Amino acid sequence: MFGIFKRRPKEPGTVRIEPLGIDLPVLSNQSVLQAALEAGIDFPHSCKVGTCMACRSRLRSGKVKAIRDFSYVLSAEELKAGYILACQAKVAPGERIVLEVEIDSQRPHHPQITCQGRITAQTPLTHDIVELRVTLDQPLAYAAGQYAALRPAHIERAREYSFAAAPTPGGDRELRFFVRLTPGGQFTGWLFGEPRVGQMLEITGPGGDFWLRDAAAPLVFVAGGSGLAPVLSVLEAAANAGVARDAVFLFGARTQGDLYKLDVVEAIAGRWAATFRFVPVLSHEPPDSGWTGARGFVTEYLAAPHVPDIAGRHAYLCGPPPMIDAALTVLAAAGVADGHVHYDKFLDTSSLV
Ligand code: FES
Repeated sequence: MFGIFKRRPKEPGTVRIEPLGIDLPVLSNQSVLQAALEAGIDFPHSCKVGTCMACRSRLRSGKVKAIRDFSYVLSAEELKAGYILACQAKVAPGERIVLEVEIDSQRPHHPQITCQGRITAQTPLTHDIVELRVTLDQPLAYAAGQYAALRPAHIERAREYSFAAAPTPGGDRELRFFVRLTPGGQFTGWLFGEPRVGQMLEITGPGGDFWLRDAAAPLVFVAGGSGLAPVLSVLEAAANAGVARDAVFLFGARTQGDLYKLDVVEAIAGRWAATFRFVPVLSHEPPDSGWTGARGFVTEYLAAPHVPDIAGRHAYLCGPPPMIDAALTVLAAAGVADGHVHYDKFLDTSSLV
């Protein structure tokens, strides 16, 4: 007589997050970052796809399985010291890991909430970018530069968009976002299909690690396309706070028709507490259009003489991945320290829709 042998399902993997002293299960379909965020832990992160290094943390013990090879972004020294990317790390069933997270003492702490919002305005800014205004059923507090995930009820996957205005202390019920049409995108297909004023969205936020660090160094900002949103939010908040750091702001667009919110940038420049230079740079403006401003790719302007003393500046970049990658190369060659460069890649490619 043989008994029926049933294999018991293995316990999920676990992670202990130090110095928070928190233990968490990590399911086989989750990254460590997902497990932490879903448990409501304020784990540093931004891109969630292994490019920004915001979730970089040190593996003290145990083993992780890399979803995407960390060596593309982490240096040999970092790998040797045990650093991993939590957004690209899985934990095998039964495995226990101990992870050490570096928490920046300046990092803003706003609890992530999920609430309902009604679209109150949908205003075209360019041929493929709209400004969305949303009124929430409760205030949401965020730091300038962060984002929220937006989702209409009939769409399964939320999309993340940066807040496009400075936050109000205590939280905001009126939010603004710039949304760019993504070819084949479910959310933007719905939004651009017809006016959606009055429609409801589920909003989860804030998230992201793009915020202005306290320092005295001069600044350089680079934005491309809808990457203007977090930069405007940071600039507005800094102007409100009287930040007195010299700043250069390069805004890359294809043509004059792709420039927008110039009046808002001008207003910020007018009340900035130090030198503020704004340079729109057009990559595909017709030669005979009469445009007398800068031409070429915005990253070609990211060096002297256009940006003086670049090596001593702190850089904040937002836009599509090729723009960010080119800017990182230019900044590294110009001697800007890694720790002085902060960026938010706008991954609005069709692979992510
Ligand atoms: S690399 Fe993990 S959140 Fe960006």
